[in-house]
Amino acid sequence: MDKLIIEGGVSLKGEVTVSGAKNAVLPILAATLLTDDACIIKGVPQLRDTATMIKILRSLGKNAELENGAVTVSMQRNTNYVADYKLVSTMRASFCVLGPLLGKLKRAKVSLPGGCVIGVRPVDLHLKGIKALGTDITIESGYVLAKANKLKGSNIYLGGVYGSSVLATDNVMMAAVLAEGLTVIESAACEPEVVDLAEFLIKMGAKIKGHGTPIIEIEGVKHLHGATHTVIPDRIEAGTLMLAALITRGDILLKNVSYRHLGALVDKLEESGASMTKTDNSIHMRYKKQMHAVNITTLPYPGFPTDMQAQMMALMSVTPGISVITEKIYPDRFMHVAELNRMGAHIQREGPHAIVEGIKGLSGAPVMASDLRASACLVLAGLAAKGKTSISRIYHLERGYENIEEKLEVLGAKVWREREKE
Ligand code: UD1
Repeated sequence: MDKLIIEGGVSLKGEVTVSGAKNAVLPILAATLLTDDACIIKGVPQLRDTATMIKILRSLGKNAELENGAVTVSMQRNTNYVADYKLVSTMRASFCVLGPLLGKLKRAKVSLPGGCVIGVRPVDLHLKGIKALGTDITIESGYVLAKANKLKGSNIYLGGVYGSSVLATDNVMMAAVLAEGLTVIESAACEPEVVDLAEFLIKMGAKIKGHGTPIIEIEGVKHLHGATHTVIPDRIEAGTLMLAALITRGDILLKNVSYRHLGALVDKLEESGASMTKTDNSIHMRYKKQMHAVNITTLPYPGFPTDMQAQMMALMSVTPGISVITEKIYPDRFMHVAELNRMGAHIQREGPHAIVEGIKGLSGAPVMASDLRASACLVLAGLAAKGKTSISRIYHLERGYENIEEKLEVLGAKVWREREKE
C-alpha cells in the first residue's frame, strides 16, 4: 500500500484542467446496458471507480475499454443479469446496474452493496421505486432478485429521511425509460450528475422531462439505441482545487469547470471573504485577504454538497472564528475530525455537528485516510501545514481524483508517494 507525503507550506500557483465527473460517468456507463448498440462516452476520468464499472460491464457481457479519456462500450455476448458481490462490494455505485438490467432484460440479480465508513447507506428507496414499476423483489443470500413480466409506468415518491437519493433516482429513471407508459418520480434528486445521465438517456432515444427538478417525467419507449456523450466536469474535484488555492494562499486558474454547478460552495466562500473571477468554463481563485469562519449545512443539490464537507472543514480549521458544520446527508461522516485534530486543529464533534475553532496553522503529522473525501480533506490540510504530513491508505483518493499528485505538482506542491511499511 502507498502513502502520500506532503511537505506543506507552498502557495499553489498555476493552471489546472478539471477531469470529467466520477459521479456522472458511473451511472452513464451503467446506462449503456440498456442497448445492444455501441456507445461512446468521452471525458471519462481514469479512476479506480471507473475501472471497477468497466469490469462490471465486462462481467455483464459488454466489451468496454478506456482509451484516451473515452470508453467505447459494445456488445460482446448476450447481457448477463447477475452483478457479482466481489465487484459490487468494492463500490456502492455498482448498484446502479439494477435499473438498466431490469429495464433491458426484465430481470436482474444484483448484490446488495452493504454499508461503508460514512454511514449505513440503505437501498430502500431504490427498491421502493423499482417495485412500483411492477417488479417482484426478493432478497436472497445478500442479493436483490428482481423480476417483472413487463415494467409499467407509475407515480413514485422517492423522498427519504435524508431527502432525495441520487443513485435511487438514477436507478428508477433507467428502469422506467423502457417501461410501458408514464412514470413520474417525485422528490427526485436534482444533482447535475442526474441531469447528465438523463441527457445521455435522451440521446439514446428516451423521453424524459423535468430532469434537474424534483419532478421527473419519463414516457417509456420500446427500445433505446447507441449514443455518444461527453460527461460534465467534476464539480467536487473543482471545489477541492478551489479550496487548495485558498488554504495555501495561492492563485489557481481552473479550466473545464461548470460554475453553475458550484453555487452553494461559491456563495459560502464569498460569505467568508474570498473572491474569484468566473467565466463560462473557468474559475480563477486567488487568495487576497484574510477570510473569516462561516457555518455550513450539507443538503441535497442545490444545497452545500456533503462531498465538499470534509474539505471545507480543513479550510475552516485554519480560518479565524468559529464555524459550525452540520451534516444532514450522512450524520456520521466525520472520520476526518480526529485526523485534523492530530494536525493541531481544534474541532469538536457534537452529533451531526462539528464545531471548528479556526487556529493559526496546522502542523504536519502522520494521518490516515478513511474514505474518498476525507482523503481530500487531509491532502488540503497537509498542503497548508508546517512540515511533513504522511497520509496512509491513500488508495481512497484514487477512487475519485484523476492524476491528483501530478496536478498538485504542476501547481508547485511538494508531494510524493512512498511505499507503506507492512
Ligand atoms: C451519491 C454520490 C455520493 C454523494 C451522495 C450524496 C454517486 C456515485 N455517489 O451517492 O458521492 O455523497 O450521492 O450527495 O453519485 N438513502 C436512503 N435510502 C436509499 C438511498 C439513500 O435512506 O435507498 C439515504 C442515504 O443513506 C443518505 C441520503 O439518502 O443519507 C442520500 O444518499 P444518496 O443520494 O442515495 O447517495 P448515493 O446516491 O449513494
